[in-house]
Amino acid sequence: MSASPLVTRTLTAEEIPAFIGTVFRAFLEDPAPESVAAEIELLEPNRTHGAFDGDELVGGATMLSKHMTLPGAGPHPVAAISCVGVAPDHRRRGAMSRLMRAQLHSQHGSGDAFAALYASEGDIYGRFGYGLAGHRAFFAVPRGAEFQSTVDVSDGRVREVDKETALPLMHHLHSKVAPARTGWLARTKASWQVYLAENEAELRAEDLTKWRYAIHPEGYAIYQVKRNWQSRKPGHEVHAKEILGTTPQAYAALWRYLLDIDLTTTVRADAAVDDPIIHMLKDATDNSRQVSDGLWVRIIDIDRALPLRAYSAPLDVVLAVEDDFCPWNAGTWRLVAEADGPATVTRTDAEADLALGARELGAVFLGGTTVGELVSAQRIRELTPGSAQAASRAFAGDHQPHCPEVF
Ligand SMILES: CC(C)(COP(=O)(O)OP(=O)(O)OC[C@H]1O[C@@H](n2cnc3c(N)ncnc32)[C@H](O)[C@@H]1OP(=O)(O)O)[C@@H](O)C(=O)NCCC(=O)NCCS
Repeated sequence: MSASPLVTRTLTAEEIPAFIGTVFRAFLEDPAPESVAAEIELLEPNRTHGAFDGDELVGGATMLSKHMTLPGAGPHPVAAISCVGVAPDHRRRGAMSRLMRAQLHSQHGSGDAFAALYASEGDIYGRFGYGLAGHRAFFAVPRGAEFQSTVDVSDGRVREVDKETALPLMHHLHSKVAPARTGWLARTKASWQVYLAENEAELRAEDLTKWRYAIHPEGYAIYQVKRNWQSRKPGHEVHAKEILGTTPQAYAALWRYLLDIDLTTTVRADAAVDDPIIHMLKDATDNSRQVSDGLWVRIIDIDRALPLRAYSAPLDVVLAVEDDFCPWNAGTWRLVAEADGPATVTRTDAEADLALGARELGAVFLGGTTVGELVSAQRIRELTPGSAQAASRAFAGDHQPHCPEVF
């Protein structure tokens, strides 16, 4: 007997708890009640799709309504793809493919012009036109590591406070900094709640403390400690979730504070690959940095998405775009941008300078992957000599994209 076809549609509010159960099971997790409550707050039924086998909800995916900072512009609306999961007994029957199609098609024309996600496995999303737009770095810096003598840690004292005391300052400083950091998401009250949600059972199992909050007049650090009482001396580790400073001095003061906590051996932090910490250290090799994939980006409408961001240099380039999954993007487009000025994208019959697919367009959108890199990787074809270099320069941002919260 052949399996019945799977159907996708958006959900009702009443179906959201079942959706969360299905997705958590797909991720091999047991949801804690507080995580379910936080997710319910965050999910919008009309942006949450379910895959059904008859009446049975067997998979789903959601598009969180977020605002992401782009190079030199924004924050702009983005479909932040999250909770993509299909029940183990319904896999490889095309449920995810249907969900991906339903999501992107629902935004075409007047919805979010681009989508972004964090991937659980790197081989999943390219087929849907998502490109690797940035990386994440996991730093490990030994306790007590010295700074360059020129690093000023300011005289603003770092204090440990409780969450309620820290929150207003964190809201304020984050909203000040996020619009200047490519890849960062604006945070609402609800998203702060999800970001700081704690699963006590998991903390106990991992021997982790709850979040601790260190504040400075111009910054804050959110961290926890992984305990490791060894027979001779403690080997605890500081795990920093977020270190933010509105000034280099505040940033340095917070790192200094974390690096000097007694009983610990190491500070671990998940940050942008170009985080300044490497250059702040007296010995630049006094850290280890593991790099993994970060944000994946999908351009939904090329003519609406590319003009959203600012360009670092003037550009006039014709792009031949292949896009089977969102066929309205396929064809030849002329992108004209002024340095830090407006950009336009229009259909053209002119000869193309660069030939690329949707994945490559998504990859270069945030300025984290360059056009030149993808030409060298044989993923973009340079048809007019020099056009790749011009496009690389124009698409470059001030710094590498990074999104502190994994959504
Ligand atoms: C990833 C997941 C959602 C895929 O769902 P699915 O319904 O089995 O996917 P589909 O049947 O639509 O597969 C579409 C294509 O993706 C491929 N694919 C699916 N999962 C993949 C994976 N984990 N790695 C590599 N390729 C994958 C399939 O082989 C298929 O390839 P094809 O088009 O060449 O035939 C599902 O396996 C799952 O829930 N995994 C655990 C949770 C998870 O990792 N979610 C992703 C969160 S970012």
